[in-house]
This record gives sequence, structure tokens and C-alpha cells, in this order.
Amino acid sequence: MKVTSIVAFSITLLASVVDSQKACNGYAEFCDKLYSEIAYVTTHNSYAAGKQPAANQNFNVSTQLKDGVRGLMLDSIYPDDNPNEMHLCHGNCRLFDAGSAVDTLTTIAGWLNENPNEVVTIIWENTAKVPTSAFNDVYTQSGLDKFGHVQGVGKGWPSLAKMIDSGKRLVNFINPPSDGSIPWLMSEFDYVFETPFENEDPNGWQCTIDRPKGKEQPLYVLNHFLYNNFLPSDNQIQLPQPGLANVTNSASLADHAKKCQQTFNKIPNFIAVDFYDKGGNDGQNVFSIAADLNSVKYNQTPLGDGTTNNNNGSNNEKAKSAAQPNGGLRNVYTLIGLASVGTYVMFVL
Ligand SMILES: *[C@@H]1O[C@H](CO)[C@@H](O)[C@H](O)[C@H]1NC(C)=O
Ligand SMILES: *[C@@H]1O[C@H](CO)[C@@H](O)[C@H](O)[C@H]1NC(C)=O
Ligand SMILES: *[C@@H]1O[C@H](CO)[C@@H](O)[C@H](O)[C@H]1NC(C)=O
Repeated sequence: MKVTSIVAFSITLLASVVDSQKACNGYAEFCDKLYSEIAYVTTHNSYAAGKQPAANQNFNVSTQLKDGVRGLMLDSIYPDDNPNEMHLCHGNCRLFDAGSAVDTLTTIAGWLNENPNEVVTIIWENTAKVPTSAFNDVYTQSGLDKFGHVQGVGKGWPSLAKMIDSGKRLVNFINPPSDGSIPWLMSEFDYVFETPFENEDPNGWQCTIDRPKGKEQPLYVLNHFLYNNFLPSDNQIQLPQPGLANVTNSASLADHAKKCQQTFNKIPNFIAVDFYDKGGNDGQNVFSIAADLNSVKYNQTPLGDGTTNNNNGSNNEKAKSAAQPNGGLRNVYTLIGLASVGTYVMFVL
């Protein structure tokens, strides 16, 4: 055997070893799955993080991404006092203003650059009808535009590995639709339907198609967050329910997801929650429930800033020791690969 063919063989073998270690969105099992076959932990009003009564999340978008959130729901608005700068606001910027959209998008772009094996989805609520050109501007300014995946309506989705290889790792949906001038800013309801989002009853979770009215689409959002009217009989101001997040985000969520899986004969793709870091005292949280839907093992990791308890008090120190870094396995694969090459070369020579 010629040296060149040994070298070629070794490279092929090494390449396949490298390939086998690759994880897509944290799991090797996801690489060959289609984008449409996966459940993604999604934060409702992702930008509305903090301690204010109108906040939907305890932790900001960079912490969310660090923790494994892969779907972000954002609302675009021009605040009254700044009609030229797109902000992320909760309906009305006086209720909650998370600042310039460029800032959050820059955070997302930085994270995508540092995490090349991750696919993320942004779902825009553009009820304020910010013009499409403004989206082009903020995506370009933040460096996010280069990641935009373009998907034909009604076409099969690529696998996560394909999206990662292409570098087009950001899926962008918008509702109401944009003017169509940006191919990667896709009309949400051409691809996705949603279960009802105005839930005030902790036992009232539905598996019905709320938007677009009665039209089933290949992907769907499972809306599973709880609101309460600020004033009884007034649904103008609705507030999230952090005090009930441990109940909302545990067995209640698992049951809702399973029920919808049966109803629609497919797993939900975007598990949209408030206070994503909170789970129940049954040990379940949105990440364990998503892992279950995806038929992968849940690798428990500390959530948030590492100082808060995520559920009933099972604390982060415990979570830390339960977390399984993948490095060990990866090194074993590499050693096996190198050893095989060595053995093969010795044998041939
Ligand atoms: C939620 O927390 C309350 C107290 O804060 C507790 O009584 C209840 O058992 C918890 N439920 C779940 C499902 O974790
Ligand atoms: C907290 O949840 C864990 C499971 O994650 C369980 O083993 C433990 O008994 C629970 N502790 C309390 C005080 O409920
Ligand atoms: C997000 O929150 C973390 C702490 O949870 C903080 O260290 C970080 O600076 C924050 N990032 C931004 C962009 O505000």
C-alpha cells in the first residue's frame, strides 16, 4: 500500500472521529435530526428580565443562552420618545423597556460566534409594525444577518448538522409578516402555529390551534406561561406569575406537552415559558421536559447566575456535581481514533 493512500485513509478516519464527537445543540443525537424534529426551550419575552412586576424572566438573554435556551421571543417597538431606534418592549415601553434591539442582538451574535455548533431561533412579535428595513438595519449593525437561514414554505427542513455546516444557524420568524424583502425574516404563521397564549387558569392549558386560526403548520409553539390580570375585569394589564413558576414549569408543563403531542401527533418545537430557570419540587423543569420530548438524557447544569435555587431547594452545588462535561468522552473517542490509525499504519508497513 502506498504512503499516500495510508495518509488518505488516516485523514478519513480522523475526519470521521472528529465528526462523531460533534454535538449539535449539545447532543450528538441531534446532528442528524431535522430542525423541525426537535423541541427547543424557548423564553417568552426573553428580553424582559429582572425583578420588575412586568418581567417574564429572572435572567437576561446571555444567561438564557448559556443555560440552553434556544428559542427567543422578542417584541419590536419604537418607544414614544425615540421614534428612530427599535427597542424591545413588553407591549408598551412604559411597562417594560429592555433598551435598544441592537444591544440584545449583538449579545446573540457574540454568543453564536463563540458557539459554532448551536442553532437558535428568534420569534418576533411585531404588533407595533416596525418596518422591515429597520430589521435589516439592526441585524446588520449587530452582525446577526450573516447567520440567517432561508427556508422555503412547505419545504422539508435541513438537519441541525447541515445548518451548522452552512453557518446559517439562526432561524427568524416574524408576526405580523414583514414586507418580504428580507428572505431570512420569515412569516411565522407560514411555518408555525401556536397554542393559546392568554392563559390565566393554572389548569386551563389547551392543545388547540390559536394562531393562525385553525391552520396547522409543520412546527408549533407550546405556549405555557401564566398571566394574571392586574385588576380584576381588566385584561389591559396582565402580569406574569413568578410565584407559581415552580408549578407551571413542572408536571403541568410535561402533561401539557404530552397532551399536545398526542393531539397533533408530533412533539412541540418551541416550549415557551416564563421564568425558565424555575422547576418543580418533583425535579422537573423545562430542560428536563424538553430532553424527555427529544428522547435524550437531561444533563443537569446550574441555571441562572449560580446563586439561586432553581426549584424546591435542590441546590446548585448538587447540580454542579451532577453535570456531566462531555470532554472525557470526547478524549476517549480521539484516543480510540488515533490508536486505530496507529495500528493500521503498523500493520500495513
Ligand atoms: C411550589 O412551591 C410551593 C411553595 O413555594 C410549594 O408549596 C409547592 O409544593 C411547590 N410545587 C411544586 C410542584 O414544586
Ligand atoms: C427536591 O427535589 C429533589 C429532586 O430534584 C428531591 O429528591 C428532594 O426530595 C426534594 N426536596 C424537597 C425538600 O422537597
Ligand atoms: C447578564 O446577566 C449576567 C448575570 O446573570 C451578567 O453577568 C451579565 O453581565 C449580563 N449580561 C448583559 C448583557 O447584561
